[in-house]
Amino acid sequence: MSQQKSFDVLIIGSGAAGLSLAIRLAEHAQIAVISKFALASGSTYYAQGGISAVLDAQDSIESHIEDTLNAGAGLCDPEIVKLTVAQGKKSIAWLSQQGVAFTERENKNGETELHLNQEGGHSHRRIVHTDDATGKAVSLSLAENARQHPNIELFENHNAIDLITARKLGIPGQRVLGSYVLDTQANQVKSIAARKVILATGGANKVYLYSTNPNISTGDGIALSWRAGCRIANMEFMQFHPTCLYHPEAQSFLISEAVRGEGGKLILPDGSTFMHKFDPREELAPRDIVARAIDHEIKKRGIDCVYLDISHKPLKFIKQHFPTIYNQCLEYGIDIAKQPIPVVPAAHYTCGGVLTDSYARTDIPGLYAVGEVACTGLHGANRMASNSLLECLVFAHRASIDILKSLPDAPHPPDLPDWDESKVSDSDEEVVVAHNWDEIRRFMWDYVGIVRTDKRLERAMHRIELLKKEIADYYGNFRVTSDLLELRSLVIVAELIVRCAQLRKESRGLHYTLDYPETDTSKSPNNTILTPKS
Ligand code: FAD
Ligand code: SIN
Repeated sequence: MSQQKSFDVLIIGSGAAGLSLAIRLAEHAQIAVISKFALASGSTYYAQGGISAVLDAQDSIESHIEDTLNAGAGLCDPEIVKLTVAQGKKSIAWLSQQGVAFTERENKNGETELHLNQEGGHSHRRIVHTDDATGKAVSLSLAENARQHPNIELFENHNAIDLITARKLGIPGQRVLGSYVLDTQANQVKSIAARKVILATGGANKVYLYSTNPNISTGDGIALSWRAGCRIANMEFMQFHPTCLYHPEAQSFLISEAVRGEGGKLILPDGSTFMHKFDPREELAPRDIVARAIDHEIKKRGIDCVYLDISHKPLKFIKQHFPTIYNQCLEYGIDIAKQPIPVVPAAHYTCGGVLTDSYARTDIPGLYAVGEVACTGLHGANRMASNSLLECLVFAHRASIDILKSLPDAPHPPDLPDWDESKVSDSDEEVVVAHNWDEIRRFMWDYVGIVRTDKRLERAMHRIELLKKEIADYYGNFRVTSDLLELRSLVIVAELIVRCAQLRKESRGLHYTLDYPETDTSKSPNNTILTPKS
C-alpha cells in the first residue's frame, strides 16, 4: 500500500542547495525535504576548501569572472558567471546569518577579518572557509535551521524513485506533480505530491571506482529528470580532484587544494617536483591540468601515487590551517608535518547535469534543478575550485524568487496513483546488483577517466548497452531497494557521460582524448546537449 502526502514544494536533497532553498521558502510555503540518507550526508558536509567570494580590497568581481571563464575553457555562459560571482559577498553574509562561523584572522592593522584561502585557478586569495571543514559548518547550521522551522518537514532515509509528471499520467499540459519515494527504513513506497519540485541531489561521481564523494553521489537527479524528459548537458566534463589520499584504509578522503594554496608541493617518490613541466602556475594550475599531470607521471613511471609535501611549514601553522587533514592523516599513520602525503586523482565534481536557465528552471514546468545536479553554464568545461558551493547558494536564491512569484498560479496536483508492486517479488539474487555496481565503476574508471580514446569509449558503451538491459529486466521483476535504485541511476549517468564524450571531437577542459588532443579553435565552442526520446 502506498501513502500520499501533499506539499507546496518538494525538495529532493538536503545539501547546501536543497536546504538553503528550503530555508528561503519556508516563511511562505509548506515544504518537504527528502534525503536519501541522514540530512548531512551529501558532498556539502565534506567540502573542505571553502566558498569563493570577492572580499579582499585587492581583488575584484572582474578578476573572479575572468578566472572562472579561463578555467571553463570557452564554455562558461558569461552572463551566468557574472550574476553568480556578483552574489559572492551577499551569499557569505546570508550564511553568517544562518550561524555559519567562518575562520577569521587579525590583519596587519590589528583588525579582525575573514581569512581567505587561495586555490587553483584563482588569481587572488578569495576562498572564505571554516578551517578545513567548511562544508561541515555549512551543513550543520543549515540542517539545524531547517529542523527548527515549522513549515519544513524533513524525510531522512527517503530515496526518490521517479518523478511523477502530467505526461506520464496522461493528463494534458506537461508539468511535474511529485515523486514516488522509497522510505528505506519502513521499506515502503510513498507518493509525495507537490506544486513545485526541486532536484538538489548533488553529483554523479560515484560512477567512478575512485571518488572523493560520499555514497549519495550516484547522479539520481540527473537520471530522474532524463527519464522524465529533461535535456542533460556537458556530461563529458567530469572533474577529477588531483589530490585524494592514497591509503588502503582511507575511503574517499580529500586533501584540500588549499594545501597547495599554502605552498604544498607535488613530488615524485624520489622527491623531485614535476608540475613546472606542465604549467607555469605549477601546483596552482586549474584542476584538469594538475590531475592530468599526476595521471601522466603515475602511468609513465608505473608508480601507485605521487606525494603532496607541506612538511616544510611549521607544525603550528599546519595544525591551525588544516586541523581535519592533519588529524585524519595521523590516524592513518601519516604525520603531514614530517612527511609527504601519498595522493592520487579521484572523481570529484560533475560539471554537467540537468540543463537549467538562470532561475534554475528545467524543461519541465514546475521542475527546478539546483546545485551540483544542474548545468547552469557557470562551470563550462572545468569548474574552478570553490565555485560550486557559491553556485548552490546563488541558484537556490534565484529559484526561490521564481517559485515565490509563480506559486500562486501553480495548480494543486491531483490524487496520484499508488505505486504498483503487484508484478514484482523480493529479489533472490542481490549479487547481480553488487556485481553490476562494481562493473560500471571499474570500466568507467578504466575507459572513461582522465584520458579517453574513441576505442575506450566504444568499449564502455558496449558494456553499458548490456547492463542497461540486465538492470531494466531486474527492475521489472523485483521490489526496489536503495542499491537497485542507485544502480539504475549509475547506468544512465554512465551512458550520458559516454554519449557526451563521443560527441566531442576535441580535447577541452576536463575532456581529454588521445584521438583529438587539441582544442578545436576553428569554430566557436558548443555545449553538448542530449535530448531524451519522448
Ligand atoms: P549534496 O551536498 O551532494 O547533497 C545532495 C543531497 O541529495 C543529499 O542530501 C542526498 O541525500 C540527496 N539525494 C541524492 N539522491 C537522492 C535521492 N534519489 N532521493 C533523495 N535524496 C537524494 N565545493 C566548493 O565550492 N568548495 C569546497 O571546498 C569543496 N570541497 C569539496 C570536498 C569534497 C570532499 C567534495 C566531495 C566536494 C567538494 N566540493 C566543494 C563540491 C561541493 O561540496 C558540492 O558540489 C556541493 O556541496 C553540492 O551540493 P548539493 O547541495 O548540490 O549536493
Ligand atoms: C578542495 O578543498 O580542494 C575542494 C575545493 C573544491 O572542490 O571546490
